[in-house]
Amino acid sequence: MAEYRKKVLLKTIEYVRGAMPPDSTGHDWWHVYRVWKNALKIASYEEGADKYIVQLGALLHDIADYKFNGGDELAGGRIATKYLKKAGASEETISRTCHIVDNVSYKGAKVKNAMKSIEGKIVQDADRLDAIGAIGIARAFAYGGMRGNLIFEPKIRPVYHKSFDEYKSSQSTTINHFYEKLFLLRGRMNTKTGKRLAKERDAYMREYLKQFLKEWKVSP
Ligand code: ADP
Ligand code: NI
Repeated sequence: MAEYRKKVLLKTIEYVRGAMPPDSTGHDWWHVYRVWKNALKIASYEEGADKYIVQLGALLHDIADYKFNGGDELAGGRIATKYLKKAGASEETISRTCHIVDNVSYKGAKVKNAMKSIEGKIVQDADRLDAIGAIGIARAFAYGGMRGNLIFEPKIRPVYHKSFDEYKSSQSTTINHFYEKLFLLRGRMNTKTGKRLAKERDAYMREYLKQFLKEWKVSP
């Protein structure tokens, strides 16, 4: 990798590490770190992916998540652009990275994915791996608790959202989030490696939910 690219990457690691506040909902530096490492792992199996863009996209993907910015979906790309300009990245790097930041998020069960680049598809797979499995379960309950959502209410049925607005404003239970998003992710992985890595996590999560519902039925 060219020297100036290495410099921009090192700067970005430091910037993101300092910019992500400690966060109890699983959107902290450690989430970014796991996504970064898993994205690199997936990239090592995918031909033709530019690892510089993969890393910048992974590092900056949650720099201003809409979920923490009053629903503003453009905040991430805006802040990433401003930062990358200052860090001395080229126009092309900025636009390829922002394509990732702008399109990484899940937008609802029936909403089509707009991610076009192979680098973006890799980062999206890595982000989605962190939403499933043992870590995914912890993050879902922590985030649901922060939103004030119920753990479970059998009377509230899962909804397969047709638009991002519908998905964003939904006040569902955390158990429903498994049906509305988490169980759908394995089938939506973009890359072969992503699919392979999702398999074990998906199975673990389904086992967990089976046990949860079993205990619920025998509860007084
Ligand atoms: P995305 O950009 O696709 O939302 P993030 O990495 O920003 O991905 O965060 C996703 C995680 O946030 C989810 O996998 C889940 O753990 C949590 N989350 C989002 N919405 C909900 C919800 N309604 N209930 C529980 N957890 C949620
Ligand atoms: Ni993320």
